[in-house]
Order: sequence, then structure tokens, then C-alpha cells
Amino acid sequence: MPNTTLLVASSDEHFRESVRDSLINLPDVKIVAEYQEVAANLYIRVLQDLERHPHAGLIVDISGDPEGSIKAIEKVKQAAPDLFVMVSNFSADGETVIQCMRAGANEFLLQPIKRTEFREAMGRLERAPRHGGGGGSKLGKIYTFIGTRGGVGTTTMAVNFASVLAQRKVSTVAIDLDWIGNDVAMQLGASPQYTLMEVGENLERLDQALFEGFVTRDPLGFFLVGPPDALEQHGHFSDHQLREFATFLVEKYDAIAIDGGRNISNDLVLAAAQVSAAVFLVIDQEFPSIRNAQRYISFLMRMGLNQDQIKVVVNRYTKKISSNQASLEQIQQTLNQAVFYGIPSSPAVIASINKGRPFVANREQAGELDRVFRAFVDKATGGKKSEATEAMGKTA
Ligand SMILES: Nc1ncnc2c1ncn2[C@@H]1O[C@H](COP(=O)(O)OP(=O)(O)OP(=O)(O)O)[C@@H](O)[C@H]1O
Ligand SMILES: [Mg+2]
Repeated sequence: MPNTTLLVASSDEHFRESVRDSLINLPDVKIVAEYQEVAANLYIRVLQDLERHPHAGLIVDISGDPEGSIKAIEKVKQAAPDLFVMVSNFSADGETVIQCMRAGANEFLLQPIKRTEFREAMGRLERAPRHGGGGGSKLGKIYTFIGTRGGVGTTTMAVNFASVLAQRKVSTVAIDLDWIGNDVAMQLGASPQYTLMEVGENLERLDQALFEGFVTRDPLGFFLVGPPDALEQHGHFSDHQLREFATFLVEKYDAIAIDGGRNISNDLVLAAAQVSAAVFLVIDQEFPSIRNAQRYISFLMRMGLNQDQIKVVVNRYTKKISSNQASLEQIQQTLNQAVFYGIPSSPAVIASINKGRPFVANREQAGELDRVFRAFVDKATGGKKSEATEAMGKTA
């Protein structure tokens, strides 16, 4: 069984562990993603991972919530009809098995999983027709920006990222999850009347017309929504609501840029990271921010993200470091991963913030910064790739 890859979804750590155990004698089968819940938006994560592993099969443990899980499987199969899905449960009563098959499952594995049965199922997965998984899905992508310190430029990155995409006519939504900072609207010169509170209150009946009717539209064409001004209203928008909102967004929009602030242990920010195609960790070259990046990366990986979904962006990047700064090589060595991009420092940033407009809206003033930032967006969204390293090399 060369190179069989698996996605495993279960809310039960023991189940996920038992699948890992079953692989001990199957060296060619590899788990490439684990999902810690079987929720309605499972298909988003699955589609994202299928882009990287188009031939992977999915195991879903439905024992935690059979009814909800079967609905989740149905959505997964609608989004990726060729995906090979194995369902697992403690009992194999006829009714449940039939429902699973109707939802599109290819296999049923009784728990506790027997090694021989598991091996045979892997054989059938390996022999199943491969049509290239769910590649080329029409779902939008979520990009979350998280700073490893305050003031590193997280909001600036998120705001300009959304702006570049909107300038390119990509349908885009910018979301501010930094309840304390609430700076996205400020950087865009907007004073939104409606906030995430109203999104939460209207989630059940939310459609595109309603959403676009009450959130703010930036002159560049993207929509933005963020926290209410009153700090005590924190908590009125839950991580559960965010996951539902995210499902709505990826179905209706091509790109969603989230300012996650720096509080990574916040439930909302973590939920955003978990539904993101990519998480950009914004750092600078100071040691505290790099040390935190290390902690953030390992935390995100423990929370189910793959290392290649976590992309380190060095803001105010300079080659000419002072004694309390780290070089690119030192950063990469410490973090044990390549830096995704370096964005130069420029007076155009503060000038644009003072004006309440993104710097990419004034290309002439932003000059080199504008050019590098656009190359970053290209690389991040799978556009022109070749400019990337070149741009960073030229950044002094
Ligand atoms: N590339 C840059 N060059 C020059 N100044 C920058 C750059 N990026 C950010 N800044 C400046 O750093 C300050 C902080 O930026 P920003 O508010 O985007 O950071 P943040 O990480 O979101 O901060 P906070 O922790 O307050 O949310 C701003 O005054 C901005 O002008
Ligand atoms: Mg900010």
C-alpha cells in the first residue's frame, strides 16, 4: 500500500489513538490530518486538506453524535463526491449503517477496530478509484493573521491583505476578532453600525443579502465586520457561532481575512485558526516575538493544524539587524521552519493609518512596500510564486 494517506475525524482522543495504533504495522499508511470534532463544517477542513493530499481517505468516528456526524458526512460527500469515507461506531445497527451508506460512506468499521478489518479497509481505500479528491473546490479560503506580540503589525497585514484581494475583484470579507484592539475599522476609516453581535444574533437566518445589508462595505469593495465597541460585550459571539459564520462565509465569498490580534488562546481566535487555510504568524525580529512564535506554532500544531498551514511573516523585515535582533537564518533555525515572507518597514504605513486607508490604496506613496506586499499576497493565495524569494532578497 504505497503512500496511502488518511484524515481522521473524532471527538474522542482514544479513537484517534486507536487509529494511530492500527497503523503500527502498516508503514505505508500515514495520517495527514486529525480533526477533534465531527461538526457541520468538517467539510471545510477536509477540502483544505484534500488540496494537499488529493488521494487521502477519511475515517469518521460517529459515536459521539451519530445523527450530527451523518449530516456532516453528507456535506463532506457533497463537497468531495470521490472521497473514500470510512465510518466507525460502537454498534452496527442496521438503521445507522443504512443512513451512513446513504450519506455516502464507503466502509463501516465496528469499534473497537480490529487490526485485520482495518488492514482490509486500507486495502480497499488503496484500490478505490482516484479521481483527484476534492481539488479545485469552489469554497472560499480563510486567512487568519495572529501577532506574537502587540504592535507587530497584525492589523496592518490583515487589512492590506483584504484590500489587495478586493482590488483584484476577489470577493472578500475582513473580520476583526481582536476584541480589545478593534482596529480594523479604524485603519479603514470606517465606523460600522453593526458588529459581530448582530451576526451572532442573526446567524440562523443569515443570507448574503442580509449580511451585506448590515455590515460595512469598504470603498475597495470588501465587507468588514468586527467587535462592538463596548468591551463588556465580549462573549456574546462564541467560537461555536464563529464556526457557523465561517461556514456561511466560505460558501459565499472567495477570501476571508481575519485579524486575530495576538491572543491565540482566545476561543474565537483558535476556532478561526482551525478553519483557516493558512494562519500567518506576524512577528518582528525581536527575540520575545520569535520566542512566542515558537510557542504559538507548537500550540497550533497541538490544536490540529499542520505545520505547512502556519506561515511566519516577518514584518518590518531588515537585513541590517541590531544586536537585539535576529537574522532570517536565526529565526528559521529557532522556529524550525522557513520564513514565509518578509515585509519591509516603511513610513507609508503610519501615513496610511493616519489617513484611515490601507497603504495598498496609495501605490505610489507605498512604493517598494506595496510591491513586496502584493508579492506576499500572490504567494499566500497561490498566485505568482517566483517573485517571492526575489522580493525578500531585495528587502534591505
Ligand atoms: N511595515 C511597517 N512599517 C512601518 N510601520 C509599521 C509597519 N507595520 C506596522 N507598522 C506600525 O506599527 C504600528 C502597529 O501596527 P498595527 O496596529 O497594525 O499592529 P498590531 O500588531 O495590530 O497592534 P495591536 O497589538 O495594537 O493590535 C502602527 O503604528 C503601524 O503604523
Ligand atoms: Mg491590531
